[in-house]
Amino acid sequence: MQLSDKKVFNMAVYMSDPVINSVYEEARIKYCSASHDFSHAVRVADHCHSIAPSVSADIRICTVAALLHDIGRSDRSEHEHFDSSEDVRKLLDGKFDPVFIGRVVKCIERHSSSSLEFPESPEEKTIFDADKLDGYGYTGVARFFTYAGENRLDIKQALNEAIRRMESIERRGSFLTPAGRRMGRSRAFRAFAYYLSLAREFGLEDEEIRMRDVLIASQGKIAGNIALALIKLLY
Ligand SMILES: [Fe+2]
Ligand SMILES: [Fe+2]
Repeated sequence: MQLSDKKVFNMAVYMSDPVINSVYEEARIKYCSASHDFSHAVRVADHCHSIAPSVSADIRICTVAALLHDIGRSDRSEHEHFDSSEDVRKLLDGKFDPVFIGRVVKCIERHSSSSLEFPESPEEKTIFDADKLDGYGYTGVARFFTYAGENRLDIKQALNEAIRRMESIERRGSFLTPAGRRMGRSRAFRAFAYYLSLAREFGLEDEEIRMRDVLIASQGKIAGNIALALIKLLY
């Protein structure tokens, strides 16, 4: 592991597990997208440690799935994930038993909002929420504009795409675990406050109104309106 990863990766837990350490080293070279890079996978693994206990998820399955969950979009950022199940099975073959590998593959297949199947097991829900957490907060905003650059969107187009995604996520209900919901609320607020302020700075009234609705839906009516007043005061 490199020193820069130590800040976000719980060394004490993983360094003592040589098999997971070898997955870590192999996963590192599978990522080359800027917005979905290996540091994203490591942060997702880290979030899993905060979420897994709340749903009694197996932390080894979550960690391995987190480290590998986006290798299916490593070099084709303009597309959604392609099926990485075979790559994952090959990489894990001989390291874990087939049942463990099957559960990791399911987590990966079901981690995205655009997945065909809905997350069911505690591990699948943990990965889903951990991944969503990294799309919110200041980190999520930074990652989103990196993604927009990869896809040649200008700032206004990027803002519209960000709002469209947030609306769709909030409509469906964003988090599936109690810990994910708790951690997601403040991270969502930071991201939404930013997008709302950007819309205001650009003079985009429709976008500002849409973002206001998303923020109230996410935080609840009372907290949402207090947040809006605060944002107006501060920005
Ligand atoms: Fe993904
Ligand atoms: Fe991801």
